[in-house]
Amino acid sequence: MKKIAIFASGGGSNAQAIIDYFRSNVEIEVALIVSNDTNAGVIDRAQKEEVPFYILQPDELEEEEFSDVLLALEIDFVVLAGFLKKIPQDILEAYPNKIVNIHPALLPKYGGKGMYGMNVHKAVVNAGEKESGMTIHYVNENYDEGQIIEQHKVALEPSDSAEDCARKVLELEHQYFAPCIEKVLS
Ligand code: GRF
Repeated sequence: MKKIAIFASGGGSNAQAIIDYFRSNVEIEVALIVSNDTNAGVIDRAQKEEVPFYILQPDELEEEEFSDVLLALEIDFVVLAGFLKKIPQDILEAYPNKIVNIHPALLPKYGGKGMYGMNVHKAVVNAGEKESGMTIHYVNENYDEGQIIEQHKVALEPSDSAEDCARKVLELEHQYFAPCIEKVLS
């Protein structure tokens, strides 16, 4: 059994889609949800789904000892799904090529500092892009710059708002993220 930890800071709809996808899988299990925010919707989901969860304290991110917790729980693979904090160096070192992130745009465009949540979709729509999409990539020291694993595109209409764009991209994320994790793990 391979054990996944999902790191999320927000509502956790991607975490939910991943939990649902692997629910009856005998080889891959969502073994832990990690959040930096006690009030994050993803924690309610973890409780409802009876998936163990861990709230990261700010000093744990700074002290760079969290990989010990992951290793003690025998976590094999880390999935970032809307996690807004920087991943400590010790986790990057403990999990080489075993951390993936989802980004709600077609990297390398619309990535980097400040490009998260609605900021991304507003930037895409304001630039008059005819398409957007999602990128799944490995995580390294530089945010949004790790090797791209998979991208999926969706067409944008001239009348689409940033909210429309967000909705279309989120649909793609729910559809493709979990199968991509499965491919990477097998
Ligand atoms: C997703 O759009 C993801 O690409 C981004 O943050 C959002 C998280 O949404 N990194 P949710 O918490 O999974 O609903």
